[in-house]
Amino acid sequence: MRATAKAHTNIALIKYWGKRNEEIILPTNSSLSVTLDAFYTETTVHFKEELERDTFILNDQEISGVPYDQVTNYLELFRSYADQKGLFAEVHSLNKVPTAAGFASSASGFAALAGATAKALQLNLDDTALSRFTRQGSGSACRSIYGGFVQWEMGTLADGSDSYAIPIAPQDHWDIRVAAVVLTAKEKDVSSRVGMKRTVDTSAFYDGWLETLPRDLEEIKEGIGRRDFEKVGAIAEANCLKMHATTLGAVPPFTYWQDTTMSVMETVQQLRKEGISAYFTIDAGPNVKVLYLPEDEEKVMQKLQATNGVTEVIVSKVGEGISYL
Ligand code: ADP
Ligand code: DP6
Repeated sequence: MRATAKAHTNIALIKYWGKRNEEIILPTNSSLSVTLDAFYTETTVHFKEELERDTFILNDQEISGVPYDQVTNYLELFRSYADQKGLFAEVHSLNKVPTAAGFASSASGFAALAGATAKALQLNLDDTALSRFTRQGSGSACRSIYGGFVQWEMGTLADGSDSYAIPIAPQDHWDIRVAAVVLTAKEKDVSSRVGMKRTVDTSAFYDGWLETLPRDLEEIKEGIGRRDFEKVGAIAEANCLKMHATTLGAVPPFTYWQDTTMSVMETVQQLRKEGISAYFTIDAGPNVKVLYLPEDEEKVMQKLQATNGVTEVIVSKVGEGISYL
């Protein structure tokens, strides 16, 4: 009972930022992302009768504490579903993405874990069912089941059966680029889980954030359909700024930005002044992702690499959905 899955990370253009149910991870809003081919996780799950507990090895290191608990609790969900209580697994995972630094290692990590576990247990889940399971490991991960442009439909039902990802446009619909601008690869202070909870519970700006989301989502989908880069970029950038604004209204307030984050934002704005269509988005960390079109690559890379505090720029194309090795 062994299987290996590969899943890519995704970057949200319309952010998921808040839960209405923390236990089974139901969001307060629908979100939309693009899957990234440069960053992925490969996970092997091996269920063995003789094991007395699960083990989790990430990048050749045995993991304990909270990340271990998350993985083992997550496997418990599958064990209950498959009626396999007491059957433990060795989980081996390789992240081709920095861990816990705002590069969505949790997204590729939980999507690959869900896929490999379901396959190892021979559950024959379709992609919708797999996305529902993945959501319960980490919300944004449910979008990584698909390639291309993906919406996570928030759903309205209390049991979460209508909260899962749906593909909006396939990988080959549109060749856009995403530059991941690395400022620091160290683990962040406030995880996305903790940050979004604090924001939902205390931010004075949270209602304002929620109000504008349905419109952002409709407009960006229209832009993606027409391959209107300026429209999609502008909506994504504004949506990111609104999400980050909510953290400043939280108690206690916090921000994921560093001075160097703002330097990159300025570079992107400068590129636009020079007539280059580039837009930024930022997840729960200091690093910035820059969206641009392939023909502008040289100019964009040059400017980003010359920006204060930038240690590395990794270019990604639009990625594919989950696969099995
Ligand atoms: P990130 O920005 O990297 O997604 P988060 O704080 O949201 O940061 O999530 C990081 C957490 O995701 C890790 O601490 C770990 O619990 C989990 N994670 C990362 N990679 C994997 C993996 N390959 N398999 C299972 N869980 C993972
Ligand atoms: C800012 O999916 O990591 O990246 O569901 O608690 O695991 P949990 O949170 P997570 O949050 C992602 C937040 C975000 C926006 C997004 O990806 O939509």
